[in-house]
Amino acid sequence: MEKQKIIIDTDPGQDDAVAILLALASPELEVLGLTTVAGNVPLNLTQKNARIICELAGRADLPVFAGCDQPLRRNLVTAEHVHGRTGLDGPSLPDPTMPLDPRHAVAFLIETLRAAPPGQVTLCTLGPLTNLATAFGEAPDIIPRIGQIIAMGGAYFEVGNITPAAEFNIYVDPEAADIVVRSGVPLTFMPLDVTHKALVTAPRNAAFRALGNGAGVATAEMTDFFERFDRAKYGSDGAPLHDPTVIAYLLKPELFSGRHVNVAVETRSDLTLGMTVADWWGVTNRAPNVTFMGDLDADGFFALLTERLARLP
Ligand code: BDR
Ligand code: CA
Repeated sequence: MEKQKIIIDTDPGQDDAVAILLALASPELEVLGLTTVAGNVPLNLTQKNARIICELAGRADLPVFAGCDQPLRRNLVTAEHVHGRTGLDGPSLPDPTMPLDPRHAVAFLIETLRAAPPGQVTLCTLGPLTNLATAFGEAPDIIPRIGQIIAMGGAYFEVGNITPAAEFNIYVDPEAADIVVRSGVPLTFMPLDVTHKALVTAPRNAAFRALGNGAGVATAEMTDFFERFDRAKYGSDGAPLHDPTVIAYLLKPELFSGRHVNVAVETRSDLTLGMTVADWWGVTNRAPNVTFMGDLDADGFFALLTERLARLP
């Protein structure tokens, strides 16, 4: 079986952490590296958290890169109110001993895409799109070499979580998201419309814990912590596992359904900054540029995730 080559661009974040674990547990995927970005918490913490998770998965050999520490043109907005002070609050995990790769994440993206045959590398983005947009600006020749981008970001029916109109990853760096949606690269978005259906209910959390391995117990502890916010805000049954949907889509696309539509990002309005305006109903003649997911088989998603986490240390 030829493995699918992916780079995970991430701002861990408990749900990012679970996405990374899912990828590292999956033999269909070859993770070339983790590129980190400022988002849920500042860059010094996201790069450290990515290394903590690699070590939890027994993958201290993976290269982890620090990338952009600020959005393209705006001040960084973080989400400690959701993820806690460290970004990985919940489990007690040791500080990493594996080194941070000295190269910049953007340099790694450019080098890797230039070296690989065109179309071979998939970019999985779990945070603000600053690293990608910066790489596109510095090296536009890499854009047609990308196989596809699968991104957690945006919302249409659910509208927003960080503001009434915008989802966090897009809101933090709307100019970067605008560059990516206009890039012409095949794009799939996992918006809140999908991820708010991927809820860690009490039985699903118990199933993670019952695995008894480090990855399963840490996932139970992370989602325990993470759920208090969404339970209070939305009255939902548990934590939404936003970012793991990106990896699950690569493994089992049949769990998801959506539409290929035009998506534009609002970059000018103060009121609706970062809104993903998805032409779900086809009321414009703007060309489709994103496969925008709308639904998932939540039981199938959690069965896949639990089965994969069981394979880790
Ligand atoms: C997204 O924002 C972050 O808080 C999560 O990690 C996820 O990537 C959800 O809006
Ligand atoms: Ca994230």
